[in-house]
Amino acid sequence: MNWRKLRIFLVTVLVLCVIPATRYYQIDKPLLRFLKSSHHVDPLSLHLSGEFVENNLGTEQDPDGSVTVRMIAQQYLFVPHCILVPAGVPVHLRITSADAVHSLTFNGTEYAVKVLPGTISVAQLQFPRAGDYKTVCREFCGAGHYAMRSELRVVPRDQFPVLRPEERGNCAAQ
Ligand code: CUA
Repeated sequence: MNWRKLRIFLVTVLVLCVIPATRYYQIDKPLLRFLKSSHHVDPLSLHLSGEFVENNLGTEQDPDGSVTVRMIAQQYLFVPHCILVPAGVPVHLRITSADAVHSLTFNGTEYAVKVLPGTISVAQLQFPRAGDYKTVCREFCGAGHYAMRSELRVVPRDQFPVLRPEERGNCAAQ
């Protein structure tokens, strides 16, 4: 192999490496999907299938007495708009975003859950006392960011199990 051929070979290799490097944000997605498949969701089909369809959102009682809350963050609201949980029990939060990056926080608590499109964020929460908390987005997510807030209602522990399933999911109607 002469020098000219070697140079062409090296330049070709370099170019072939540079193209994927500059497109990293495109090629890493299937890889991430593969690595954490259990936490991946397609933000474009949340309402069509999977655990984030509308009638599966909100609070669900688990067999051990804890609850699971499923939510979607989207520009510029949290769905359901008002969620209800019992006081003093573990709350398993599962939330994903339909568009931008958001951050779910509960006023008066230290909890902050970063929410990204394509991924399910999981957090373990617990609220010791009954009361109303404002839930506020604390990640700048666009023009309506400062209006992106909703509500969490914590009810006494013994009051929660007597509620009908449809009352648990959406306390805005109460
Ligand atoms: Cu959502 Cu800021």
